[in-house]
Amino acid sequence: MVKKSEAGDESKLLTLDYNNVTAEVVGADKGLGRTELEAMKRHLTYAQKSFLRRKAKGLYPFADLPFDAKMASLCRRLATEGRKKYDDAVVLGIGGSALGANAVFSALRPLNHNSLPDETRGWPRLRVADNIDPESFEVLLDGLDLKKTFFYVISKSGATAETMSQFMIVTEKLEKKLGRKSVKDHVLFVTDPEKGVLNKLMASSPYDFSDSLSIPPGVGGRFSVFTAVGLAPLAMVGVDVAKLLAGARAAQEDFEKPVMSNKALLFAGLNHQLRSFKNGSSLVMMPYADSLARVSDWFGQLWNESLGKAERADGGPPAGQTAIKAVGATDQHSQLQLYMEGPEDKIVCFLGVEKYRANVKIPRLFQDQPELAYLSGRGLGDLLNFERQGTARALAENRRPNMTLLCSVVSPQTVGYLLQTLMLATIVSGSLYGVDPLDQPGVELGKKFTYGLMGREGFEEMKARYDKGLKSDPRRLV
Ligand code: PA5
Repeated sequence: MVKKSEAGDESKLLTLDYNNVTAEVVGADKGLGRTELEAMKRHLTYAQKSFLRRKAKGLYPFADLPFDAKMASLCRRLATEGRKKYDDAVVLGIGGSALGANAVFSALRPLNHNSLPDETRGWPRLRVADNIDPESFEVLLDGLDLKKTFFYVISKSGATAETMSQFMIVTEKLEKKLGRKSVKDHVLFVTDPEKGVLNKLMASSPYDFSDSLSIPPGVGGRFSVFTAVGLAPLAMVGVDVAKLLAGARAAQEDFEKPVMSNKALLFAGLNHQLRSFKNGSSLVMMPYADSLARVSDWFGQLWNESLGKAERADGGPPAGQTAIKAVGATDQHSQLQLYMEGPEDKIVCFLGVEKYRANVKIPRLFQDQPELAYLSGRGLGDLLNFERQGTARALAENRRPNMTLLCSVVSPQTVGYLLQTLMLATIVSGSLYGVDPLDQPGVELGKKFTYGLMGREGFEEMKARYDKGLKSDPRRLV
């Protein structure tokens, strides 16, 4: 087991400041008072125990992933060989099979990684094809030198229409360009160890597919960033996956801390209280760093798909808190007006960075102009941080609850810590709302209609049901 110190001083990786959700700051009608915080603490103590009990029974395998160095070293080995052969690595996957890798890639590689010259980049470019828009997929494929491209076909179920169609298109393209025998050298499956069509294709197909990495059973898409789903493509572009896991491990260890110093528990508990007893039906996740914008996308899926559920243990109304993406400072100039003065139904969570990796100074120019003089000689990072702090204060003064998650820097350790903390918070929230955070029954019906419309065998009834429900009054087509 790797020691805690390898993640750096973990107490500094991430800080949660929740002063601005308290009744003291935003008033008793909007914020949480002492009695409510006491009640939250009791619920969280129970939720923490229940999590640890269930984890010990093997029900949360995602929580063990940071302690398993084997997959990370395998992915690093594959990447060391792969970087010599390939210029491009392409993820074919959607939802939880794409968002984690994309979030970590954007956070930890230079923002211009893909456009750097080969010598400077040193690792393949990464493309994450998480949609089936024919225009973007065609542009992507046309821009690749297939001889020097490696495809990760990532699907836990091995049944997802979007990923499977991409895979079929790519297989044909590879075959046409490189010949049937070469296809398998450019494709790696990341899937369930047994189930799904990708396993069937490995048993028998004209392409002799033989390479796959397993996603451990019990780890669903949105909790899979620390399996091969995230680690394989991330290692291939030079992300230090060992340090990423060390950060996640520190977060997992910190989850055993007492409630009031436990970031994952508090994040879950505060949002649950604000959602259930105040007006926090939406949660705006607002990183003040372009590199973390995709963490907000990843979080959106995690929070929305895990907690938006009709079936609650207590039979209560549908659960969930709508996660919304914003980026500071950009969205101060587009969304903030709504958060300051619009419907009082949102909690803003700022995701700040204490020290940015670039130090860009504003030159000492135009000092005789008061509109510009205060900027001169300051760093852009300082300005961005003051904007975050100023916005948090402004919201608080307007009695709009907000909290801040502050990363010391953006590094593999802090990103690993942040992601694991948010996954833990999601599971705990599931138990506070009394819903199953690991399933997503609500997405099934739409899929079945699609199968019916596409003529999939066995779904003829869905096509009939679709046609029957279709209202197509021409007067309403304007
Ligand atoms: O979080 C989830 O479980 C989903 O978002 C899935 O990741 C997504 O639907 C893709 O599924 P699969 O990996 O089976 O192709």
